Amino acid sequence: MAATDLERFSNAEPEPRSLSLGGHVGFDSLPDQLVSKSVTQGFSFNILCVGETGIGKSTLMNTLFNTTFETEEASHHEECVRLRPQTYDLQESNVHLKLTIVDAVGFGDQINKDESYRPIVDYIDAQFENYLQEELKIRRSLFDYQDTRVHVCLYFITPTGHSLKSLDLVTMKKLDSKVNIIPIIAKADTISKSELHKFKIKIMGELVSNGVQIYQFPTDDEAVAEINAVMNAHLPFAVVGSTEEVKVGNKLVRARQYPWGVVQVENENHCDFVKLREMLIRVNMEDLREQTHSRHYELYRRCKLEEMGFQDGDGDSQPFSLQETYEAKRKEFLSELQRKEEEMRQMFVNKVKETELELKEKERELHEKFEHLKRVHQEEKRKVEEKRRELEEETSAFNRRRAAVEALQSQALHATSQQPLRKDKDKKN
Ligand code: GTP
Ligand code: MG
Repeated sequence: MAATDLERFSNAEPEPRSLSLGGHVGFDSLPDQLVSKSVTQGFSFNILCVGETGIGKSTLMNTLFNTTFETEEASHHEECVRLRPQTYDLQESNVHLKLTIVDAVGFGDQINKDESYRPIVDYIDAQFENYLQEELKIRRSLFDYQDTRVHVCLYFITPTGHSLKSLDLVTMKKLDSKVNIIPIIAKADTISKSELHKFKIKIMGELVSNGVQIYQFPTDDEAVAEINAVMNAHLPFAVVGSTEEVKVGNKLVRARQYPWGVVQVENENHCDFVKLREMLIRVNMEDLREQTHSRHYELYRRCKLEEMGFQDGDGDSQPFSLQETYEAKRKEFLSELQRKEEEMRQMFVNKVKETELELKEKERELHEKFEHLKRVHQEEKRKVEEKRRELEEETSAFNRRRAAVEALQSQALHATSQQPLRKDKDKKN
Protein backbone atom coordinates (compact mmCIF):
# COMPACT_ATOMS: atom_id res chain seq x y z
CA MET A 1 0.00 0.00 0.00
CA ALA A 2 1.34 3.47 -0.84
CA ALA A 3 2.42 5.77 2.00
CA THR A 4 -0.22 8.32 1.05
CA ASP A 5 -2.94 5.68 1.38
CA LEU A 6 -1.70 4.75 4.84
CA GLU A 7 -1.74 8.40 5.88
CA ARG A 8 -5.19 8.78 4.46
CA PHE A 9 -6.43 5.75 6.45
CA SER A 10 -4.74 6.66 9.72
CA ASN A 11 -5.92 10.28 9.59
CA ALA A 12 -9.40 9.43 8.42
CA GLU A 13 -12.06 10.45 10.89
CA PRO A 14 -14.96 7.99 10.79
CA GLU A 15 -18.09 9.92 10.13
CA PRO A 16 -21.24 7.85 10.50
CA ARG A 17 -23.69 8.48 7.75
CA SER A 18 -27.41 8.29 8.33
CA LEU A 19 -29.21 5.89 6.06
CA SER A 20 -32.87 5.13 5.92
CA LEU A 21 -33.89 1.48 5.84
CA GLY A 22 -35.89 0.06 2.99
CA GLY A 23 -37.83 -2.26 5.32
CA HIS A 24 -37.78 -4.03 8.70
CA VAL A 25 -34.37 -5.48 9.60
CA GLY A 26 -34.95 -6.56 13.17
CA PHE A 27 -32.36 -4.84 15.35
CA ASP A 28 -35.16 -3.17 17.30
CA SER A 29 -35.33 -6.50 19.13
CA LEU A 30 -31.90 -5.85 20.67
CA PRO A 31 -33.35 -4.71 24.06
CA ASP A 32 -35.52 -7.86 24.13
CA GLN A 33 -32.42 -9.98 23.42
CA LEU A 34 -30.65 -8.29 26.33
CA VAL A 35 -33.61 -8.87 28.65
CA SER A 36 -33.89 -12.49 27.65
CA LYS A 37 -30.14 -13.04 28.13
CA SER A 38 -30.19 -11.40 31.56
CA VAL A 39 -33.22 -13.39 32.63
CA THR A 40 -31.54 -16.66 31.65
CA GLN A 41 -28.37 -15.67 33.38
CA GLY A 42 -30.13 -14.57 36.58
CA PHE A 43 -29.19 -11.71 38.87
CA SER A 44 -27.24 -11.35 42.02
CA PHE A 45 -27.85 -8.81 44.74
CA ASN A 46 -25.82 -8.47 47.91
CA ILE A 47 -27.08 -6.61 50.96
CA LEU A 48 -24.95 -5.74 53.95
CA CYS A 49 -26.84 -5.19 57.23
CA VAL A 50 -25.00 -3.08 59.78
CA GLY A 51 -26.60 -2.34 63.12
CA GLU A 52 -26.48 -3.21 66.78
CA THR A 53 -27.26 -6.73 67.92
CA GLY A 54 -31.03 -7.24 68.21
CA ILE A 55 -31.92 -4.03 66.32
CA GLY A 56 -34.20 -5.99 63.96
CA LYS A 57 -31.94 -6.79 60.97
CA SER A 58 -33.12 -10.35 60.39
CA THR A 59 -36.78 -9.47 60.94
CA LEU A 60 -36.55 -6.67 58.37
CA MET A 61 -34.88 -8.95 55.79
CA ASN A 62 -37.61 -11.55 56.30
CA THR A 63 -40.27 -8.85 55.95
CA LEU A 64 -38.64 -7.34 52.84
CA PHE A 65 -38.41 -10.58 50.93
CA ASN A 66 -41.56 -12.08 52.45
CA THR A 67 -39.82 -15.27 53.48
CA THR A 68 -37.95 -16.71 56.44
CA PHE A 69 -34.19 -16.77 56.09
CA GLU A 70 -32.52 -19.10 58.52
CA THR A 71 -30.42 -16.94 60.85
CA GLU A 72 -29.06 -17.36 64.32
CA GLU A 73 -29.41 -14.73 66.99
CA ALA A 74 -26.09 -13.11 67.80
CA SER A 75 -24.80 -13.09 71.36
CA HIS A 76 -23.68 -9.85 72.97
CA HIS A 77 -20.29 -11.37 73.77
CA GLU A 78 -18.50 -11.36 70.43
CA GLU A 79 -14.87 -10.29 70.85
CA CYS A 80 -14.95 -8.37 67.60
CA VAL A 81 -17.30 -7.67 64.71
CA ARG A 82 -17.65 -10.68 62.37
CA LEU A 83 -19.15 -10.67 58.88
CA ARG A 84 -21.52 -13.55 58.14
CA PRO A 85 -22.64 -13.86 54.51
CA GLN A 86 -25.49 -16.18 53.62
CA THR A 87 -26.64 -16.76 50.07
CA TYR A 88 -30.14 -17.76 48.99
CA ASP A 89 -31.68 -18.58 45.61
CA LEU A 90 -34.96 -16.77 45.16
CA GLN A 91 -37.35 -16.87 42.25
CA GLU A 92 -40.20 -14.53 41.34
CA SER A 93 -42.07 -15.27 38.08
CA ASN A 94 -39.24 -16.53 35.87
CA VAL A 95 -36.55 -14.26 37.35
CA HIS A 96 -33.86 -15.91 39.46
CA LEU A 97 -32.15 -13.84 42.12
CA LYS A 98 -29.08 -14.95 44.03
CA LEU A 99 -29.46 -12.93 47.18
CA THR A 100 -26.63 -12.63 49.68
CA ILE A 101 -27.34 -11.13 53.06
CA VAL A 102 -24.24 -10.20 55.00
CA ASP A 103 -24.73 -9.64 58.70
CA ALA A 104 -22.25 -7.61 60.74
CA VAL A 105 -22.46 -9.85 63.80
CA GLY A 106 -21.59 -8.31 67.17
CA PHE A 107 -21.55 -4.73 65.89
CA GLY A 108 -21.51 -2.24 68.78
CA ASP A 109 -21.05 -4.88 71.48
CA GLN A 110 -17.38 -4.33 72.24
CA ILE A 111 -16.19 -2.04 75.03
CA ASN A 112 -13.59 -0.53 72.71
CA LYS A 113 -15.41 0.35 69.50
CA ASP A 114 -12.50 2.15 67.80
CA GLU A 115 -11.93 -0.61 65.28
CA SER A 116 -15.55 -1.82 64.86
CA TYR A 117 -15.69 -0.55 61.28
CA ARG A 118 -12.49 -2.34 60.21
CA PRO A 119 -13.86 -5.88 59.61
CA ILE A 120 -16.70 -4.37 57.55
CA VAL A 121 -14.31 -2.32 55.40
CA ASP A 122 -12.03 -5.34 55.03
CA TYR A 123 -14.95 -7.53 53.91
CA ILE A 124 -16.07 -5.01 51.27
CA ASP A 125 -12.49 -4.61 50.01
CA ALA A 126 -11.99 -8.37 49.89
CA GLN A 127 -14.99 -8.73 47.56
CA PHE A 128 -13.63 -5.97 45.30
CA GLU A 129 -10.23 -7.66 45.36
CA ASN A 130 -11.76 -11.01 44.30
CA TYR A 131 -13.45 -9.32 41.35
CA LEU A 132 -10.27 -7.47 40.39
CA GLN A 133 -8.27 -10.71 40.52
CA GLU A 134 -10.81 -12.33 38.22
CA GLU A 135 -10.56 -9.36 35.84
CA LEU A 136 -6.77 -9.56 35.78
CA LYS A 137 -6.71 -13.29 35.01
CA ILE A 138 -5.62 -14.34 31.54
CA ARG A 139 -8.57 -16.71 31.33
CA ARG A 140 -11.38 -14.67 32.84
CA SER A 141 -14.84 -15.94 33.46
CA LEU A 142 -16.67 -12.78 34.42
CA PHE A 143 -19.78 -13.96 32.61
CA ASP A 144 -20.60 -16.65 35.17
CA TYR A 145 -18.64 -15.02 37.99
CA GLN A 146 -20.44 -15.20 41.33
CA ASP A 147 -20.37 -11.49 42.16
CA THR A 148 -20.05 -10.99 45.91
CA ARG A 149 -19.47 -7.23 45.85
CA VAL A 150 -21.75 -5.47 48.31
CA HIS A 151 -24.42 -3.55 46.41
CA VAL A 152 -26.06 -1.82 49.33
CA CYS A 153 -25.46 -1.30 53.02
CA LEU A 154 -28.59 -0.93 55.10
CA TYR A 155 -27.40 1.00 58.12
CA PHE A 156 -29.75 0.42 61.07
CA ILE A 157 -29.95 3.45 63.35
CA THR A 158 -31.16 2.91 66.92
CA PRO A 159 -34.38 4.91 67.52
CA THR A 160 -33.01 6.97 70.40
CA GLY A 161 -34.63 10.25 69.32
CA HIS A 162 -31.37 11.95 70.26
CA SER A 163 -28.45 12.29 67.88
CA LEU A 164 -26.42 9.74 65.98
CA LYS A 165 -23.86 7.83 68.01
CA SER A 166 -20.24 8.53 67.15
CA LEU A 167 -19.88 4.85 66.23
CA ASP A 168 -22.57 5.35 63.55
CA LEU A 169 -20.91 8.45 62.16
CA VAL A 170 -17.43 6.95 62.10
CA THR A 171 -18.63 3.71 60.49
CA MET A 172 -20.73 5.43 57.83
CA LYS A 173 -17.86 7.80 57.05
CA LYS A 174 -15.49 4.88 56.58
CA LEU A 175 -17.97 3.05 54.36
CA ASP A 176 -19.35 5.83 52.21
CA SER A 177 -16.68 5.63 49.49
CA LYS A 178 -16.97 1.85 49.30
CA VAL A 179 -20.66 1.07 49.30
CA ASN A 180 -24.10 2.59 48.72
CA ILE A 181 -25.39 3.42 52.19
CA ILE A 182 -29.11 3.63 52.90
CA PRO A 183 -29.65 4.71 56.49
CA ILE A 184 -32.80 3.43 58.17
CA ILE A 185 -34.28 4.07 61.58
CA ALA A 186 -35.07 0.63 62.99
CA LYS A 187 -37.97 -0.27 65.29
CA ALA A 188 -39.68 2.99 64.35
CA ASP A 189 -42.77 1.89 66.30
CA THR A 190 -40.86 2.68 69.51
CA ILE A 191 -40.66 6.40 68.82
CA SER A 192 -43.50 8.91 68.60
CA LYS A 193 -44.44 10.63 65.35
CA SER A 194 -43.23 14.10 66.31
CA GLU A 195 -40.02 12.75 67.82
CA LEU A 196 -39.42 10.71 64.68
CA HIS A 197 -39.81 13.80 62.48
CA LYS A 198 -37.26 15.73 64.56
CA PHE A 199 -34.96 12.70 64.73
CA LYS A 200 -34.93 12.37 60.93
CA ILE A 201 -34.01 16.05 60.48
CA LYS A 202 -31.30 15.76 63.11
CA ILE A 203 -29.80 12.65 61.52
CA MET A 204 -29.67 14.21 58.06
CA GLY A 205 -28.12 17.39 59.50
CA GLU A 206 -25.45 15.38 61.27
CA LEU A 207 -24.68 13.32 58.18
CA VAL A 208 -24.29 16.47 56.10
CA SER A 209 -22.17 18.31 58.67
CA ASN A 210 -19.88 15.31 58.99
CA GLY A 211 -19.56 14.92 55.25
CA VAL A 212 -21.10 11.43 55.14
CA GLN A 213 -22.25 10.61 51.61
CA ILE A 214 -25.31 8.42 51.66
CA TYR A 215 -26.86 6.86 48.56
CA GLN A 216 -29.16 9.23 46.67
CA PHE A 217 -31.87 7.65 44.55
CA PRO A 218 -31.00 8.71 40.98
CA THR A 219 -33.03 11.45 39.37
CA ASP A 220 -31.49 11.37 35.89
CA ASP A 221 -33.83 8.73 34.49
CA GLU A 222 -37.11 10.46 33.61
CA ALA A 223 -39.20 7.40 34.37
CA VAL A 224 -38.22 7.37 38.05
CA ALA A 225 -36.89 10.90 38.59
CA GLU A 226 -40.01 12.17 40.28
CA ILE A 227 -40.56 9.31 42.70
CA ASN A 228 -36.85 9.13 43.51
CA ALA A 229 -36.67 12.87 44.25
CA VAL A 230 -39.66 12.57 46.61
CA MET A 231 -38.12 9.54 48.31
CA ASN A 232 -34.74 11.24 48.75
CA ALA A 233 -36.55 13.78 50.92
CA HIS A 234 -37.90 10.97 53.14
CA LEU A 235 -34.49 9.61 54.06
CA PRO A 236 -33.68 8.05 56.48
CA PHE A 237 -36.60 5.63 56.23
CA ALA A 238 -38.21 4.76 59.53
CA VAL A 239 -39.10 1.09 59.34
CA VAL A 240 -40.92 -1.57 61.30
CA GLY A 241 -40.35 -5.25 60.67
CA SER A 242 -42.63 -8.16 61.43
CA THR A 243 -43.49 -11.50 59.93
CA GLU A 244 -46.49 -11.91 62.20
CA GLU A 245 -49.88 -11.69 60.52
CA VAL A 246 -52.68 -9.85 62.26
CA LYS A 247 -56.29 -9.54 61.17
CA VAL A 248 -57.20 -5.93 60.39
CA GLY A 249 -60.77 -5.62 59.12
CA ASN A 250 -61.19 -8.59 56.83
CA LYS A 251 -57.59 -8.79 55.81
CA LEU A 252 -54.54 -10.51 57.28
CA VAL A 253 -51.68 -8.02 57.29
CA ARG A 254 -48.13 -8.12 58.57
CA ALA A 255 -48.09 -6.10 61.74
CA ARG A 256 -46.93 -5.82 65.32
CA GLN A 257 -49.70 -6.08 67.82
CA TYR A 258 -49.60 -4.15 71.07
CA PRO A 259 -52.11 -3.89 73.94
CA TRP A 260 -52.97 -0.41 72.69
CA GLY A 261 -53.16 -1.13 68.97
CA VAL A 262 -51.64 -2.58 65.84
CA VAL A 263 -48.65 -1.23 63.87
CA GLN A 264 -49.06 -2.27 60.26
CA VAL A 265 -45.79 -2.79 58.47
CA GLU A 266 -47.16 -1.99 55.03
CA ASN A 267 -49.24 1.00 56.08
CA GLU A 268 -47.49 4.19 54.94
CA ASN A 269 -49.11 6.13 57.77
CA HIS A 270 -47.44 3.84 60.28
CA CYS A 271 -43.92 3.56 58.85
CA ASP A 272 -41.72 3.86 55.74
CA PHE A 273 -41.35 0.12 55.11
CA VAL A 274 -43.17 0.26 51.77
CA LYS A 275 -41.03 3.20 50.65
CA LEU A 276 -37.87 1.25 51.49
CA ARG A 277 -39.08 -1.85 49.65
CA GLU A 278 -40.08 0.18 46.60
CA MET A 279 -36.81 2.06 46.45
CA LEU A 280 -34.52 -0.82 47.25
CA ILE A 281 -36.08 -3.61 45.27
CA ARG A 282 -38.59 -2.41 42.71
CA VAL A 283 -37.10 0.88 41.48
CA ASN A 284 -33.39 1.10 42.19
CA MET A 285 -31.95 -2.39 42.50
CA GLU A 286 -30.23 -2.14 39.12
CA ASP A 287 -28.91 1.35 39.87
CA LEU A 288 -27.44 0.08 43.14
CA ARG A 289 -25.70 -2.73 41.22
CA GLU A 290 -24.47 -0.31 38.60
CA GLN A 291 -23.24 2.29 41.11
CA THR A 292 -21.34 -0.45 42.90
CA HIS A 293 -19.57 -1.36 39.68
CA SER A 294 -19.04 2.04 38.11
CA ARG A 295 -18.35 4.13 41.20
CA HIS A 296 -17.21 2.12 44.20
CA TYR A 297 -15.46 -0.75 42.44
CA GLU A 298 -13.93 1.65 39.92
CA LEU A 299 -12.44 3.71 42.75
CA TYR A 300 -11.06 0.59 44.42
CA ARG A 301 -9.64 -0.66 41.11
CA ARG A 302 -8.05 2.69 40.28
CA CYS A 303 -6.37 3.02 43.68
CA LYS A 304 -5.20 -0.58 43.58
CA LEU A 305 -3.76 -0.34 40.08
CA GLU A 306 -2.06 2.98 40.87
CA GLU A 307 -0.62 1.36 43.98
CA MET A 308 0.74 -1.38 41.73
CA GLY A 309 2.42 1.26 39.56
CA PHE A 310 0.01 1.35 36.63
CA GLN A 311 -0.73 4.75 35.14
CA ASP A 312 -2.76 6.00 32.25
CA GLY A 313 -0.68 7.79 29.59
CA ASP A 314 -0.87 11.59 29.17
CA GLY A 315 -3.95 11.65 26.99
CA ASP A 316 -3.17 11.00 23.32
CA SER A 317 0.59 11.75 23.35
CA GLN A 318 1.67 8.84 25.56
CA PRO A 319 -0.49 5.74 25.30
CA PHE A 320 -0.39 3.43 28.29
CA SER A 321 1.91 0.47 27.84
CA LEU A 322 1.44 -2.52 30.11
CA GLN A 323 4.82 -3.90 29.02
CA GLU A 324 6.66 -0.69 29.95
CA THR A 325 4.87 -0.40 33.27
CA TYR A 326 5.70 -4.01 34.03
CA GLU A 327 9.37 -3.48 33.11
CA ALA A 328 9.57 -0.26 35.16
CA LYS A 329 7.94 -1.96 38.13
CA ARG A 330 10.26 -4.94 37.77
CA LYS A 331 13.32 -2.69 37.67
CA GLU A 332 12.06 -0.76 40.67
CA PHE A 333 11.46 -4.02 42.52
CA LEU A 334 14.92 -5.38 41.64
CA SER A 335 16.72 -2.21 42.69
CA GLU A 336 14.71 -2.17 45.91
CA LEU A 337 15.69 -5.79 46.45
CA GLN A 338 19.34 -4.96 45.80
CA ARG A 339 19.20 -2.01 48.18
CA LYS A 340 17.63 -4.21 50.86
CA GLU A 341 20.28 -6.91 50.24
CA GLU A 342 23.09 -4.36 50.54
CA GLU A 343 21.51 -2.99 53.71
CA MET A 344 21.30 -6.49 55.18
CA ARG A 345 24.91 -7.25 54.20
CA GLN A 346 26.13 -4.02 55.78
CA MET A 347 24.12 -4.77 58.89
CA PHE A 348 25.65 -8.24 59.05
CA VAL A 349 29.21 -6.91 58.62
CA ASN A 350 28.62 -4.29 61.33
CA LYS A 351 27.21 -6.94 63.63
CA VAL A 352 30.21 -9.20 63.04
CA LYS A 353 32.60 -6.29 63.70
CA GLU A 354 30.77 -5.40 66.87
CA THR A 355 30.87 -9.01 68.07
CA GLU A 356 34.56 -9.27 67.18
CA LEU A 357 35.32 -6.15 69.22
CA GLU A 358 33.28 -7.44 72.12
CA LEU A 359 35.12 -10.78 72.00
CA LYS A 360 38.52 -9.06 71.88
CA GLU A 361 37.61 -6.92 74.86
CA LYS A 362 36.48 -10.06 76.72
CA GLU A 363 39.76 -11.81 75.84
CA ARG A 364 41.79 -8.86 77.10
CA GLU A 365 39.84 -8.80 80.33
CA LEU A 366 40.37 -12.53 80.78
CA HIS A 367 44.08 -12.20 80.12
CA GLU A 368 44.37 -9.40 82.69
CA LYS A 369 42.47 -11.51 85.18
CA PHE A 370 44.77 -14.43 84.50
CA GLU A 371 47.90 -12.28 84.96
CA HIS A 372 46.55 -10.85 88.18
CA LEU A 373 45.73 -14.32 89.52
CA LYS A 374 49.18 -15.52 88.51
CA ARG A 375 50.81 -12.67 90.43
CA VAL A 376 48.63 -13.30 93.47
CA HIS A 377 49.49 -16.99 93.29
CA GLN A 378 53.27 -16.32 93.08
CA GLU A 379 53.07 -13.95 96.03
CA GLU A 380 51.18 -16.57 98.04
CA LYS A 381 53.73 -19.19 97.06
CA ARG A 382 56.60 -16.95 98.15
CA LYS A 383 54.91 -16.27 101.49
CA VAL A 384 54.34 -19.99 102.05
CA GLU A 385 58.01 -20.73 101.21
CA GLU A 386 59.14 -18.11 103.71
CA LYS A 387 56.84 -19.52 106.35
CA ARG A 388 58.21 -23.01 105.65
CA ARG A 389 61.79 -21.82 105.98
CA GLU A 390 60.99 -20.05 109.27
CA LEU A 391 59.29 -23.17 110.53
CA GLU A 392 62.27 -25.32 109.57
CA GLU A 393 64.63 -22.93 111.35
CA GLU A 394 62.39 -22.94 114.40
CA THR A 395 62.28 -26.76 114.29
CA SER A 396 66.08 -27.10 114.11
CA ALA A 397 66.52 -24.50 116.91
CA PHE A 398 64.01 -26.40 118.94
CA ASN A 399 65.81 -29.68 118.27
CA ARG A 400 69.09 -28.13 119.29
CA ARG A 401 67.61 -26.81 122.51
CA ARG A 402 66.01 -30.15 123.19
CA ALA A 403 69.32 -31.96 122.70
CA ALA A 404 71.02 -29.52 125.09
CA VAL A 405 68.30 -29.99 127.66
CA GLU A 406 68.56 -33.75 127.34
CA ALA A 407 72.32 -33.62 127.79
CA LEU A 408 71.92 -31.49 130.88
CA GLN A 409 69.27 -33.81 132.23
CA SER A 410 71.46 -36.90 131.76
CA GLN A 411 74.39 -35.14 133.48
CA ALA A 412 72.16 -34.17 136.37
CA LEU A 413 70.85 -37.72 136.63
CA HIS A 414 74.34 -39.12 136.66
CA ALA A 415 75.34 -36.72 139.41
CA THR A 416 72.37 -37.62 141.65
CA SER A 417 72.96 -41.38 141.27
CA GLN A 418 76.65 -40.95 142.54
CA GLN A 419 75.69 -39.01 145.74
CA PRO A 420 74.03 -41.89 147.98
CA LEU A 421 76.99 -44.20 147.31
CA ARG A 422 79.33 -41.57 148.74
CA LYS A 423 77.06 -41.10 151.79
CA ASP A 424 77.07 -44.89 152.46
CA LYS A 425 80.81 -44.95 152.22
CA ASP A 426 81.03 -42.05 154.68
CA LYS A 427 78.71 -43.88 157.14
CA LYS A 428 80.78 -47.06 156.98
CA ASN A 429 83.91 -45.16 157.58
P1 GTP B 1 -29.05 -10.22 65.75
O1 GTP B 1 -28.97 -10.89 64.44
O2 GTP B 1 -29.08 -11.17 66.90
O3 GTP B 1 -28.08 -9.12 65.91
O4 GTP B 1 -30.47 -9.49 65.86
P2 GTP B 1 -31.27 -8.78 64.68
O5 GTP B 1 -30.73 -7.42 64.49
O6 GTP B 1 -31.33 -9.68 63.52
O7 GTP B 1 -32.70 -8.61 65.34
P3 GTP B 1 -33.95 -9.57 65.17
O8 GTP B 1 -34.56 -9.41 63.84
O9 GTP B 1 -33.57 -10.94 65.58
O10 GTP B 1 -34.94 -8.93 66.22
C1 GTP B 1 -34.63 -8.81 67.58
C2 GTP B 1 -35.93 -8.54 68.35
O11 GTP B 1 -36.45 -7.29 67.95
C3 GTP B 1 -37.01 -9.56 68.12
O12 GTP B 1 -37.67 -9.79 69.31
C4 GTP B 1 -37.94 -8.88 67.11
O13 GTP B 1 -39.28 -9.31 67.26
C5 GTP B 1 -37.80 -7.43 67.54
N1 GTP B 1 -38.07 -6.54 66.41
C6 GTP B 1 -37.67 -6.70 65.15
N2 GTP B 1 -38.09 -5.68 64.39
C7 GTP B 1 -38.81 -4.86 65.22
C8 GTP B 1 -39.50 -3.63 65.03
O14 GTP B 1 -39.56 -3.08 63.95
N3 GTP B 1 -40.08 -3.07 66.13
C9 GTP B 1 -40.01 -3.65 67.35
N4 GTP B 1 -40.61 -3.04 68.35
N5 GTP B 1 -39.38 -4.80 67.54
C10 GTP B 1 -38.77 -5.40 66.51
MG1 MG C 1 -30.19 -11.37 63.06
